[in-house]
Amino acid sequence: MVYKALPGTKDILPPEILLWQELEEKAKAIFSSYHYQEIRTPIMEELKLFVRSVGETTDIVEKEMFSFKDRGGREVCLRPEATASCVRAYLQSNLPLSEAGVKFFYLGPMFRAERPQAGRYRQFHQMGVEVLGSTSYLVDAEVISLSIELLHAFGLKSFLLKLNSLGCFEDKKVISEKYREILFRKKEELCLLCQKRMERNVLRVLDCKEGKCKRLIAELPPTPELICKECQKHFQSLQEVLSLLKIDYRIEPHLVRGIDYYTRTVFELVSEELGAQDALAAGGRYDNLIEYLGGPSLGAVGFALGMERIILALKKSCRLNLEEKCLDIFLITLGEEAGKEGFFLMQLLRKKGISIDMDYTEKSLKAKMRRANRLKAKFVLIIGEEEIKQGNYLLREMSSGKQELLRKENITEELCKRLR
Ligand code: HAM
Repeated sequence: MVYKALPGTKDILPPEILLWQELEEKAKAIFSSYHYQEIRTPIMEELKLFVRSVGETTDIVEKEMFSFKDRGGREVCLRPEATASCVRAYLQSNLPLSEAGVKFFYLGPMFRAERPQAGRYRQFHQMGVEVLGSTSYLVDAEVISLSIELLHAFGLKSFLLKLNSLGCFEDKKVISEKYREILFRKKEELCLLCQKRMERNVLRVLDCKEGKCKRLIAELPPTPELICKECQKHFQSLQEVLSLLKIDYRIEPHLVRGIDYYTRTVFELVSEELGAQDALAAGGRYDNLIEYLGGPSLGAVGFALGMERIILALKKSCRLNLEEKCLDIFLITLGEEAGKEGFFLMQLLRKKGISIDMDYTEKSLKAKMRRANRLKAKFVLIIGEEEIKQGNYLLREMSSGKQELLRKENITEELCKRLR
């Protein structure tokens, strides 16, 4: 029997891994220019952290948690997202808030027991940022513009920024009451699930994908019209900055996002190339979460993008170049003595930063040359018994077929010269 990866999980193999590495490198350079520092939090956390942060009545907590009791009887789970972990880590560490606040970035796997489909996995990877310590709309603008810059750097062009404001904690209560009142009158028209959602957490109705619910949602008053003056001003100022930065956006007056901690700004970057799972990145402000988790009253904002969806969108837009990096030298040794001598030389060359590999099998010279071709090696270095006796190694440049004998004593310098 051959074991297989679990449904909704997958191996990331070469050559695709090269693309992941490339995207991560590009992202790290951008995070650094925005002055964000990396945080790595545990993959496993206390279950209550997410129940409290993400919300008891959200799909994530109700249906999608990989939770279990550990051997000590603690209720733990695999993290479904990283915002709550970042806040927990910040509070636990007593990190001082600098004037500009704490600016984290993270990369890593998240876990949600969703029904797998294209762009939706049970283990998926997010890249994201969290800025803790400020309520300024300028930080919202920074985070949004950073997310767009990342997508551009990755080579994605066709996506749309959807934007909305949910107002402050009090405003969310007002919105919920208003919506409940309206929807209650049309309760029978809602799907069964939304009828329950309406009672427990009416904002969750707005995530429903059922046609009949969507029609009712479209008739609800826009959230920006129901929020307080101060929150309206915050939202207006953010839009002015986005316009200044020439960032296009579309106001989605019923965008609430599937997590309870959001207040004020919420946004999504949706691909025009993906199907049902079209959100490439999403985020927003969560001004009550730090306090809710036992910390001071501080504003915060962040976003996360889904790596698998980015890669899917790149594949769809044909902006993929999965060329494997070619090897500098492929070493072919013939016979046991040559094997040892070649291996010793190979280790020296690797320390000089030369990429070199050898074939450890007993295959023929011809078979090994074929392998060098497949690996697209720039040079092949051949060491056989004759070469050892003579003190010369044979070097073949693969593009031209040119061959030369190099003296063993100064082989390292000669190879370095040719690879410079
Ligand atoms: P989220 O919308 O749940 O937000 O996830 C962010 C992104 O992760 C999505 O837009 C999507 O690209 C990707 N994603 C989510 N679920 C899956 C899945 N099952 N398979 C593949 N990709 C997926 C959050 O997680 C928030 N923590 C974002 C945030 C940070 N808000 C403030 N700060």
